[in-house]
Amino acid sequence: MGKIITIANQKGGVGKTTTAVNLAACIAAAEKTTLLVDADPQANATSGVGLQMNTDGRSTYELLIAGREAGDLVQQTQMPHLSIIPSHINLVGAEVELVDVDHRERRLRTGLASIKDQFDYIFIDCPPSLGLLTLNALTAADSVLIPVQCEYYALEGLGQLLNTINMVKKQMNERLDIEGVLMTMYDSRLRLSNQIVEEVRKYFGEKVFKTVVARNVRLSEAPSFGKPIILYDAVSSGTRHYMDLAEEVLSRNGHTSAMTAGGSRTN
Ligand SMILES: Nc1ncnc2c1ncn2[C@@H]1O[C@H](COP(=O)(O)OP(=O)(O)O)[C@@H](O)[C@H]1O
Ligand SMILES: [Mg+2]
Repeated sequence: MGKIITIANQKGGVGKTTTAVNLAACIAAAEKTTLLVDADPQANATSGVGLQMNTDGRSTYELLIAGREAGDLVQQTQMPHLSIIPSHINLVGAEVELVDVDHRERRLRTGLASIKDQFDYIFIDCPPSLGLLTLNALTAADSVLIPVQCEYYALEGLGQLLNTINMVKKQMNERLDIEGVLMTMYDSRLRLSNQIVEEVRKYFGEKVFKTVVARNVRLSEAPSFGKPIILYDAVSSGTRHYMDLAEEVLSRNGHTSAMTAGGSRTN
């Protein structure tokens, strides 16, 4: 039951939050009960689904630090089947406050245990670092999804991320698996984009999702309206690509879906 997928890459701006929000929304659109956990103090996933940052003391911070019951922190979004535990800027302090706490890497895992089976999928959006928040998210997860931007130096830093994943696997969470590597912000006009996809495929093989998310301005506009792409522009390439990704994730996890295949795979 309930699969927890953490979306991590210590580089900023690679598409973690865009993927967390839109993949979660597309899985919810397939009528899977879905929870988004915003573990980034910047709270972009929170605002991306239309919630205000001010969350009356019901946020990931309370789950991690105050040990509040997760069920009390879950909030409904504008989409049926999609809930969120929002973030708040006070989560910045959690990195420091956790240092002296027992089992400091296990707080999120422990916190989510009581609600895990109420959901089909739980997605955790991480901050751009390999600090305690990301360690908590990796320790809580069944698998990690790694977004990689189609850019020069795409592979740079991935070694460090893989080392961290292996360390978590050895010491904290032996079930942690790599869900997949997602190529984002693909630009078909650039030969470079193709080269990067090939290079990453050589390195990660079958772990790379068939779906490649192209650069699409609608994806970058949607957050300022507090809407996942599927609500903001249902006919955009962004919607098509994240729907395709959702289908891949569902089928990799033994779920079939009735969603329409878009035939939009870039590769
Ligand atoms: N496929 C895409 N096409 C266009 N813009 C994108 C795409 N994916 C992400 N962006 C934009 O790029 C920026 C960084 O993406 P974001 O998801 O916030 O990255 P991260 O969470 O890894 O820092 C944001 O402004 C976002 O709207
Ligand atoms: Mg982000």
